[in-house]
Amino acid sequence: MRNSPILLYLVLCGFILLSFGCIQNQTLPFTQSSNSELETESPKRYEDLIIGFAQLGAESEWRVANTNSIKETAEQLGVELRFYDAQQKQENQIEAVRKLIMQKVDVIGISPIVETGWEEVFQEAKDAGIPIILVDRRASVSEDLYVSYLGSDFLEEGRNAARAMVELTNGKANVVELVGTIGSAPANDRYKGFREIIEDYPEIKIIDSQTGDFTLARGREVMAGFLQKYGTEITAVFAHNDDMALGAILAIEEYGLRPGIDIQIISIDAARGAFEAMIAGKLNATIECNPLLGPQFFELALKVVNKEPYPKWVPSIEGIFFPESAIEILPTRKY
Ligand code: AHR
Repeated sequence: MRNSPILLYLVLCGFILLSFGCIQNQTLPFTQSSNSELETESPKRYEDLIIGFAQLGAESEWRVANTNSIKETAEQLGVELRFYDAQQKQENQIEAVRKLIMQKVDVIGISPIVETGWEEVFQEAKDAGIPIILVDRRASVSEDLYVSYLGSDFLEEGRNAARAMVELTNGKANVVELVGTIGSAPANDRYKGFREIIEDYPEIKIIDSQTGDFTLARGREVMAGFLQKYGTEITAVFAHNDDMALGAILAIEEYGLRPGIDIQIISIDAARGAFEAMIAGKLNATIECNPLLGPQFFELALKVVNKEPYPKWVPSIEGIFFPESAIEILPTRKY
């Protein structure tokens, strides 16, 4: 009994300590979750981003400008960029996406070389919680497999090329067509868009159509073949890009005809080489396709990461250029 006050004192202390421990245990998780909530809520800045980009290759002046725009913008903004060049092979591009998934980047940008064959790897990215942004070229996948498409309206570019063809030839021409990479979105849509307009002009005939794979070398080779086959029957060329048109110009000169005069040439991209050819009188029109997508791409990626609203398609604004304005415009061209 003599020890009972001490006992009571010890029990009381134990009780106070235990209660304190309980309070600590209850408040600790709350404090932790409140901190992590704050962390996820504070918006990310460009310097916080790790962005992957799976480029398709370096087939044209346009593509080189596109790659430079992405690399330079990343550097200016302080974004960590993981860049892969697939060297014109879809399997390399798929492998690049898989590597970027393993690296747990925040967003993957990709210019798909062809439209089909992306479901599996895009699904893998989605399962890993990594958003895909399509840059420059679309892919035929369901809309839930990518967050947004940033790029041109290739159908409209094809239509604009046809409108220019109608204007330059007064609705009468024998056209040979240099098609882009088979199965690619720009080749598919430019092919379709051109025909949509031309079908109202029965005296414009597409006498042949073959791929030049978007390169100058192939454009030259295919055009030489067309000239061997049809000779002076050809009065116009529709090239799906400037590089193939520049190749066609060389082939026409080698054949002994005057490009831009004996054979009208219309192409797409509006790269500096096309302006130089227009100034030299060898190209008759070029339809703009804007490759300088770096600033818009990173802006979009930041919005996606911060869960801010963004559109499903960010279209590029593009013009049509003729030789009359080429001298004045060339110094302002950035690609
Ligand atoms: O996807 C855009 C197209 O690809 C450009 O017109 C062409 O030059 C490039 O290679």
